[in-house]
Amino acid sequence: MTRARIGLIGTGFIGRTHAIALSAVGAVFADIEAPVRELLADTTEAAARAAAGALGFARATGDWRELVADPAVDVVDICTPNHLHRDMALAAIGAGKHVWCEKPLANTAREAREIAAAADAAGVRHLMGFNYICNPLLQVARDMIAAGELGDVYAFRGSYLEDYMSDPAVPWSWRCDRALAGSGALADLGSHLINLGHFLLGAVARVNGRLQVVHRTRRDPATGATRAVENEDIARALIEFASGVPGTFEVSRVATGLKCGLAFAVFGTRGALEFDQERMNELRWYDAAAGGARRGFRTLLAGPEHPDYRPFCPAPGHGLGYNDLKVIEARNLLRAVAGGAPAWPDFHEGARVQAVMEAIEASHASGAWTDVGA
Ligand SMILES: NC(=O)c1ccc[n+]([C@@H]2O[C@H](COP(=O)([O-])OP(=O)(O)OC[C@H]3O[C@@H](n4cnc5c(N)ncnc54)[C@H](O)[C@@H]3O)[C@@H](O)[C@H]2O)c1
Repeated sequence: MTRARIGLIGTGFIGRTHAIALSAVGAVFADIEAPVRELLADTTEAAARAAAGALGFARATGDWRELVADPAVDVVDICTPNHLHRDMALAAIGAGKHVWCEKPLANTAREAREIAAAADAAGVRHLMGFNYICNPLLQVARDMIAAGELGDVYAFRGSYLEDYMSDPAVPWSWRCDRALAGSGALADLGSHLINLGHFLLGAVARVNGRLQVVHRTRRDPATGATRAVENEDIARALIEFASGVPGTFEVSRVATGLKCGLAFAVFGTRGALEFDQERMNELRWYDAAAGGARRGFRTLLAGPEHPDYRPFCPAPGHGLGYNDLKVIEARNLLRAVAGGAPAWPDFHEGARVQAVMEAIEASHASGAWTDVGA
């Protein structure tokens, strides 16, 4: 098997996470050839060179188009602000490269569908950066639901609450700009939660959503001027899966005190599951058959008997971290690139997630239940 040669674009928060995953994946997973960290792009040559040195990339460029066209790059890894994903992904696909793209896939569902169709037509592999569902315990949760261990599932409650913008003194950034970020908490956090809902219970079919802006202006650090916040801090929705299961979504970037509160509960006739990413090595399971004085939620602690844990550590309860989820995601990508089955969540899932986000926004505008578009 030849080693995949990676071109990484963007080295902020998530670009570093990708670089760390790419450096670890060959060591963690025995069936994966360590990828070649070939070329790195950022906004300037100097910034790219500094990041390439720190993150173990062989070469650097200040022009992402050069990276996409480079014949020594097999996989383009997009870790830039949201509005750049579309042009970068389409250019990479046009050059015949496989593409790994951070969420959200684009700023509109139409653009996201365009990218997914182009990737299919070009026959390249494509994977979204929905890392949270790579958690070994969430793979267990999905399998338990699919196997009927919770009985008939009749309710889902999902939230993704963070407080990174709860302080009004947090400066204005690209995340507050409609043209650069698309929606606010929905695009940033809701995209992960919607993908998690799809992963556990299948497609979301209908939504009734409301948006809320808490801090209407912030100070622009570049100019010192006050700038309008153009997208929502909080989104809430009643939802209905295509299976008929009803539920709720709540996402917030101003949830004071919560740092990575991606949480869900699934309720069924024979049991329930609860999870909170802030305690990501614990899955809580209520087995309704265990009655009497000993009934109650029990905690499954992540360990080598769960999928994808053992390659990191042979001992139970020692725990994986956020960055390890990206290592698992990188493994999924590289298996697909090496000729394995297509990886999921692919760009079609990226487009479906985008369609749910858009339906929540449309529902806020109309005040009515809204079907999720194709
Ligand atoms: N999966 C996750 O858990 C997760 C977490 C954080 C961010 N993200 C996603 O990752 C993306 C980036 O977010 P971030 O928090 O890393 O942002 P960031 O602002 O920290 O970093 C963005 C990077 O892109 C670079 N960049 C900007 N314009 C560029 C251009 N024209 N050419 C080359 N490089 C350019 C910036 O210089 C910077 O290095 C977003 O789409 C975000 O939604 C995902």
